Amino acid sequence: MFDNGIVVVGLGYIGLPTSAAIATQGVSVTGIDVRRDVVDAINLGKVPIVEPDLDVAVAGAVALGTLRATTEVPSADAFMLAVPTPSDAGKAPDLSYVKAAAESIAPVLKAGDVVILESTSPPGTTRRVSEWIAAARPDLSLPHQGEGRHDIYVAHCPERVLPGRIMVEIVENDRLVGGITRACAERAAEVYSLFCRGEIVLTDATTAEMAKLVENSFRDVNIAFANELAGICDHLDLDVWEVIDLANKHPRVNILKPGPGVGGHCIAVDPWFIVAAAPEQSRIIRTAREINDARPHAVVAQTVSLAKPDSTIAVLGLAFKANVDDLRESPAIQIVELLDEALPDARLLAVEPHVDALPPSLAGRDSVSLAPLGTALAAADVVLLLVDHQAFMDLTLADLRDKQVVDTRGLLKAATNPLERTS
Ligand SMILES: NC(=O)c1ccc[n+]([C@@H]2O[C@H](COP(=O)([O-])OP(=O)(O)OC[C@H]3O[C@@H](n4cnc5c(N)ncnc54)[C@H](O)[C@@H]3O)[C@@H](O)[C@H]2O)c1
Repeated sequence: MFDNGIVVVGLGYIGLPTSAAIATQGVSVTGIDVRRDVVDAINLGKVPIVEPDLDVAVAGAVALGTLRATTEVPSADAFMLAVPTPSDAGKAPDLSYVKAAAESIAPVLKAGDVVILESTSPPGTTRRVSEWIAAARPDLSLPHQGEGRHDIYVAHCPERVLPGRIMVEIVENDRLVGGITRACAERAAEVYSLFCRGEIVLTDATTAEMAKLVENSFRDVNIAFANELAGICDHLDLDVWEVIDLANKHPRVNILKPGPGVGGHCIAVDPWFIVAAAPEQSRIIRTAREINDARPHAVVAQTVSLAKPDSTIAVLGLAFKANVDDLRESPAIQIVELLDEALPDARLLAVEPHVDALPPSLAGRDSVSLAPLGTALAAADVVLLLVDHQAFMDLTLADLRDKQVVDTRGLLKAATNPLERTS
């Protein structure tokens, strides 16, 4: 099975761990990326992203000879597409990477091959992959053509891994495998049975696409509820952390924590794919996105109200979530950009222990620099806590008593009960 190996197109946060997980099982994997630097690094056994245990797995598989990277797609028995699926400026899905990846594998496909779309995708994308391949290879029959047996098997298998735990979850999580036909699902499931210990559940491709989008929209709507509570409690001069803690004592209530906004390129993007597919029906999902997108502006307004025009502001955290180096779609970056525009004479000292350079959108700004935690805290008039990194866990309100503090993560929440604070 898969004697001619497996090709994984796109060697980022999903494609590289997937390649390593399969190659570690002794199956030959060729990873493809359009970025020469990524390919070269991997062939040296190096990992261009920070993810626990990924470096060991990649270095081991490269040394064993089961993993290699290249920019040219070779022939293989299975092809997994793990390329970006962003939304464009108008929030419409941008499928150009998926189309390019499908067209890049089309010339080498042969009867019996399986093509799996791993990228998070709007409903109907797997079928479009099948159509794009059919257009490039009229000599092959594809499953969307609906003529019984087909030469190529096409399926969608969405990823649910949590950055920071990818190497564990890629093996342990249950997987949805959605085929355009049942035969497609069954053939694709054989790929996952190589390295997955979770349950492999078969469905059709569009249901699998939608299920993944629903998972992330569920998270987004629940975060929006918490963020809306933060705005309401701010308006009513109540401590939102206290209110949520107390409400969560109800046995069937579990409210999430508010924050500075929703980042990453999953939860902040995927709900828009549902809105684009069913705009009239997606009212809560759209509103949740708007509430979460408005949070950075509320955090900036609060910070500006506490700062002076020439304040030094320590910004703790730039990543989109705790303990990762991923700055993509990070609300913290947007907050620093907005603060720099609102307070052009302020000095912004960004503390981000997981990176050693500012991202491009901040790098050219005179008033923004990276600083170690101690330096930033010593210099700051205002401390803005944006990410609950482990490195900030030991901070207490007492450490910051002579400073103005905006704590968007509730890390420094007041130690006392509101009754004691009123007496
Ligand atoms: N990162 C996550 O935690 C996560 C979780 C679940 C699902 N996903 C989904 O997985 C997909 C991939 O996400 P990611 O985080 O791995 O992205 P990424 O940006 O980390 O990696 C994508 C890689 O694909 C490469 N690439 C782009 N076009 C290519 C092409 N035509 N041929 C070859 N390589 C190409 C890029 O150079 C890049 O290295 C997205 O749809 C994303 O929504 C990501």
